[in-house]
Amino acid sequence: MSDHQLRVSKIPRGTVIDHIRAGQALNVLAILGIDGESGETVSVGMNVPSDRMGHKDIVKVEDRELSQDEVDVLSLIAPEATINIIREYEVAEKQYLERPERVVGVLSCPNHNCITNENEPVETEFDVLDDGVRCEYCETIVREDLADHIAVE
Ligand code: CTP
Ligand code: ZN
Repeated sequence: MSDHQLRVSKIPRGTVIDHIRAGQALNVLAILGIDGESGETVSVGMNVPSDRMGHKDIVKVEDRELSQDEVDVLSLIAPEATINIIREYEVAEKQYLERPERVVGVLSCPNHNCITNENEPVETEFDVLDDGVRCEYCETIVREDLADHIAVE
């Protein structure tokens, strides 16, 4: 991308989540628990022109690397995204997402009677299906709007 097209400037250190499907940036921020209150420096591009995708969203979070749990949920809602770890202004690592088989501790179960909603010390656990996720404890299947079920602390 040439400099005159670069809408969000380069960052010294942190994580760039690139090639997010247009419209998903706010869900990505929700997954990362970014609500603007925690003082992190975050840049968001929405509907940015992209050679490969037409338009894309992009999220840059400074001074932070992502946990594997966060990467797992991201890969559910933004499987086409690329995660770039930036150190000293350079891309130090580039990670292409893969759909996980299972996500632990990051989604909440919509079934109010599920043991994971009973104040027991049980972490949520969902198997990933082709078209959704299934609670390991009560077998409830969530197919749509996974981002609405993210258990952000
Ligand atoms: N980036 C950044 N700050 C840096 C370095 C890179 O914000 N210090 C961003 C770039 O703007 C780009 C992404 O990180 O959006 C990946 O950078 P790079 O690998 O250099 O770009 P591309 O080769 O275009 O990546 P890809 O092949 O994944 O499309
Ligand atoms: Zn359940």
